[in-house]
Amino acid sequence: MKRIAIVLGLAAVVMSCARKDWRDASLTAEERASLLLKEMTLEEKVGQMCQYVAPCYVEPGKGSARKNIDATDENLGNKDLSDKVRRGEVGAFLHVMTSDEAVALQKMAQESRLGIPLLLGIDAIHGNALIEGCTVYPTNINMASTFNPELMEKIGEETALEMRQRGLFWTFAPNLDIARDARWGRMGETFGEDALLTSEMGKYAIWGFQGRDGKYSGNHVVACAKHLIAGGEPAGGLNAAPMDISERKLRELYLPPFVAAIRDAKVGTVMAAHNEINGIPCHGNKWLLNDLLRDELGFDGFVVSDWMDIERLHSMHHWVPDSTEAFVVSVESGIDMHMQGDKYFEAVVAAVKSGRIPESRIDQAAGKILAVKFALGLFEQPVPEIPEVLDGAAEHRQTALEAARQGLVLLKNDGTLPLKNPRRVFVVGPNANSQTILGDWAVPQSDDNVITVLDGLKAAMPNVSIDTLCFGGKISNVNAKGVQMARFKASAADVNIVVVGENSQRYSAFGRTCGENCDRDDLSLPGMQQQLLEAVVASGKPTVVVLMTGRALSIGWAKENANAILNAWEPGQMGGQAIAEVLTGQVNPSGKLPVTVPRNVGQVQTVYNYKHSQYSRLFATNETGALWPFGYGLSYSTFEYSDATLSKSEIGVSESLKASVTVTNNGPYDGDDVVQLYIRDEYGSVTRPVKELKAFRRISLKNGESTKVEFDITPEMLQCWGVSEKWSVEPGDFTILLGSSSADSDLTPLPLKVK
Ligand code: GLC
Repeated sequence: MKRIAIVLGLAAVVMSCARKDWRDASLTAEERASLLLKEMTLEEKVGQMCQYVAPCYVEPGKGSARKNIDATDENLGNKDLSDKVRRGEVGAFLHVMTSDEAVALQKMAQESRLGIPLLLGIDAIHGNALIEGCTVYPTNINMASTFNPELMEKIGEETALEMRQRGLFWTFAPNLDIARDARWGRMGETFGEDALLTSEMGKYAIWGFQGRDGKYSGNHVVACAKHLIAGGEPAGGLNAAPMDISERKLRELYLPPFVAAIRDAKVGTVMAAHNEINGIPCHGNKWLLNDLLRDELGFDGFVVSDWMDIERLHSMHHWVPDSTEAFVVSVESGIDMHMQGDKYFEAVVAAVKSGRIPESRIDQAAGKILAVKFALGLFEQPVPEIPEVLDGAAEHRQTALEAARQGLVLLKNDGTLPLKNPRRVFVVGPNANSQTILGDWAVPQSDDNVITVLDGLKAAMPNVSIDTLCFGGKISNVNAKGVQMARFKASAADVNIVVVGENSQRYSAFGRTCGENCDRDDLSLPGMQQQLLEAVVASGKPTVVVLMTGRALSIGWAKENANAILNAWEPGQMGGQAIAEVLTGQVNPSGKLPVTVPRNVGQVQTVYNYKHSQYSRLFATNETGALWPFGYGLSYSTFEYSDATLSKSEIGVSESLKASVTVTNNGPYDGDDVVQLYIRDEYGSVTRPVKELKAFRRISLKNGESTKVEFDITPEMLQCWGVSEKWSVEPGDFTILLGSSSADSDLTPLPLKVK
């Protein structure tokens, strides 16, 4: 017996030693990463920190990315880069736009000494939409308008499945920027101006991408919370411009979405922001990237730079004397991976050899990157299998349709909608029959993949005579002659549908006016669209405006003079069907604004959670205040709110209570509404916003149905970052506000005393 015990014991020791191999999939991703690091050279470790743009990348629309690629240098078109891959000096690529290239690059990486797979990332912001044929869901501002986080999670799941099938494993999403300036071009990519709504939508999106356990198993991918931090109200509205911000505003407004992403959703990566905060660029901000992100929030993934933003520490911020110093400072500050290109590798290797950067810092960065690759299962299947037909595509299009339906915001309706069986309809505008409906971060899709507004109307009204004037999808084609023609055609119709707004198409030859790096100093309709709208209205016939845009637009004239306004944002490839269904009454609109709509650009910043002193004075020559408030959106039904109550009128600082309100659908249609709960801390140790959204719930009610909606109010919802520079619930008077939008006229105030 004793001999057996000894043999078994030895076997166990041998086994445990044998088990200590990074190839052993039974070990944790972190264990495997630390074992693999031990076998790597300094160059191979720094290689993991290097990302490059795909060698075959060309902007779609400028000659398509090459097909039928195999892992040979001439096919990839960049021998130097191929050699780096073979030497194990590349860890990741972005903008790999074809699966052929994804396969070729992974095969090439297998030729390296350790065969470490590549991490292929892409901006799958609203579906894997940079890859032709993948589902293009509504943009994030549309999803925020649904106030439906669970639907966002479903889209994340489906997007991850489609990404995996195209050999991609890392999405640079969700965008968690808080958009508080409509001049900034990226509002459409965000979940709007509110911290809670952004936190919830972002958290659910990450759960969808990564899986609820944050293990990226099965058909999940690793997500990226971006951009850390506070780039959503840049000075002058221009992307990447400086941001001066108090720690209070940072913690109360900008940080919560990242806290939710890290603590609740265990996001695997974070991307730093272009801008500086308070004089220190985010890409060199040790307090932000280490003290706050890692030490305080407990982030344990890796941080990737934004595009060339390390180099910009020199070239844009004028903060360090050259790019070599920029590379070194970024590593010292907490950036783990460089997006993208040459010279970084050499600078970092040299800095380690000179003793400027300790090799332990490289082990930390490379270890985090390897752990993600192990968790994704890349080592078990380094070369992806690519199915010809995208699994799930038909179901995903239905999800995209439902999301488009729920994100449409009806801003005005004098009864013209839903359409009353018109005989002749005039559809006019540059966005009526174009792929602007897809929004930013999407490549041109084949036309049979996209349902435009005109397509949707033709399908929804097959027996109606539809006249059109769509200007070839180009805003710049709207000219005086076209305006005159529109006036004439509008007079002959029973109802006019004017589809106007912006163009966020990233790869469009049609003149972008919105999207990344498309900031405007004007919030009116671009080009001659306003004149077009006025000409149609001048016909005297009922006019419906369909607004297709990635930013809030100050369409005050339309608000006064059009009969109805449907804000469609950028509802994706199924958007035209959803819009037609709403216009014809097949679907009851239910979207709510996730941003406040400014009256004009001169009144920016216009947000709902302003301070009491914001409007102590009014503008001298124009009405002051929003065109439409945050949380606002009409239905074809009327919803009545009653019996708003609190379970207690007085609590201690650490107590909770319940708020409830009864909602009745007075018809005439079944429909959804979004019940919103705001709080106001009446007199804090620091000034407090007039209201802050603290809970919301989307409900569905049949015509005539009532329901009681209940919310828990917790101390966390009542706390603030007070004068003591820490989170606390401060005793005093609060007001709880319940209703259907942030407008006071839509809210019932309930007093609450905190002792
Ligand atoms: C861009 C964007 C970032 C994106 C990256 C890669 O500059 O700021 O959001 O993920 O480049 O495309």
